[in-house]
Amino acid sequence: MIQALSIQKGTLMPIPETSEPRTEGTRRRVGLTGLAVLGLAVGALALWAQPYPLSPGFRRVSAQQAESQGKSVSELEDGEKIYEATCAACHGSDGSGRSAEQLGLDAAPADFTDCSFASREGTKEWLAVAHEGGPTRGFSQDMPAFGNALSEEQLRAAIGHIRTFCEDKSWPRGEFNLPRPLVTTKAFPEDEVVLATSVDTEDPGSAVVDAIFEKRIGSRNQVEMAIPFGWKETTGSGGGGTGQWRSVLGDITLGFKRVVFDDLDKGSIVSLNAEAVLPTGDERTGFSKDTVFLEPQVLFGQLLPADFFVQGQGGFGLPVDTDETDEEAFWRLTGGRSFHQGGWGRRWTPMVELLGSRDFVDGADVNWAVVPQLQATLNKRQHVRFNVGAEIPVNNTGPRETRVMAYLLWDWFDGGLFQGW
Ligand code: HEC
Repeated sequence: MIQALSIQKGTLMPIPETSEPRTEGTRRRVGLTGLAVLGLAVGALALWAQPYPLSPGFRRVSAQQAESQGKSVSELEDGEKIYEATCAACHGSDGSGRSAEQLGLDAAPADFTDCSFASREGTKEWLAVAHEGGPTRGFSQDMPAFGNALSEEQLRAAIGHIRTFCEDKSWPRGEFNLPRPLVTTKAFPEDEVVLATSVDTEDPGSAVVDAIFEKRIGSRNQVEMAIPFGWKETTGSGGGGTGQWRSVLGDITLGFKRVVFDDLDKGSIVSLNAEAVLPTGDERTGFSKDTVFLEPQVLFGQLLPADFFVQGQGGFGLPVDTDETDEEAFWRLTGGRSFHQGGWGRRWTPMVELLGSRDFVDGADVNWAVVPQLQATLNKRQHVRFNVGAEIPVNNTGPRETRVMAYLLWDWFDGGLFQGW
């Protein structure tokens, strides 16, 4: 049980993110630079084709642009020009977005100069919104679909220009926000709530649920708290289960993570993570190590071609009282790939983790385990996700049993739990 909990702990605690929840409208700044920027002709036509209300003023300006340019938007390649022609009318030349009232729309366009917002999504996700329209990610239909008017390359170019509006480059890009593995901790700092569970297949009379809160602080830091609850079936006098379950608090983990390196060209992100496991649980229940446990770690993520990725974590588990439990080293490697259903829709990510750990004791074996798993986004916004898999010991299978693991994740920066379905 101690063994199980230690796996649990590393597994289930990892990652908080940050920031204020996005409330439509309020976080977006109103750009007043508006009219000067409205671009070319066909952009306006593309917009007209969309089923959202455009104010008469907006139409007029677009028509003027069309005349002055005398050029089709589809001929444009330069990202800034495409943006000016097709996006700036709503999003503003400076990217800060015009107000919903000015535009006669229900939703206010996003503020792309706000790095905390604008750095979070990968280009693939923004491309989905621009190509298919706001509703494809549970946003307003006021954000039109451009898939018929512009090529994917043109939309990429426009998004490339949008990327220039956030000037503080200390915010790691959303591409590094890789799908969360069941055990390995991510390098990317997040704002998440995760409910993770793990059940021993050999001993169905016990289960653990970890409630994990992760909050991002500024561009590169994150704090985390993980509170595990163990459930145990009480044993009757004959030794069998009684059908009555008792819940006990496990060891609470506090963590601090900081991104120390990120480079989108190389596709690499590296973070340092420090966790302290506090002996808040009761050792007699098997849900505590009964000593403060420190875990310094290095985390990395590597983007690979064709939506493949690798994530890794290495560190030490250092008990303050070594009489209670041994010091250990552990390492975790995850490989996976994301698939978008129908090109733009639900994201499926099969992953496999390889876990290794070794106690600092003479003659100790390295314990190996593999964790095949499948993560899926549950809603259109893709900020509520589910992952299920199994941790299967490869060696030392005597004391170590297969555990079924799962989590439900809510990235609360992207909206309320019930938004974007
Ligand atoms: C008719 C006005 C309008 C035009 C034109 C427009 N947008 Fe938008 N866009 C919006 C609105 C409104 C939202 C906010 C929707 C919401 O929050 O529900 C938005 C949101 C977005 C988002 C944010 C998605 C997120 O993660 O919050 C992206 C990316 C985006 N637009 C890209 C573009 C691009 C690229 C273009 C030009 C090719 C463009 N938009 C043109 C109105 C527009």
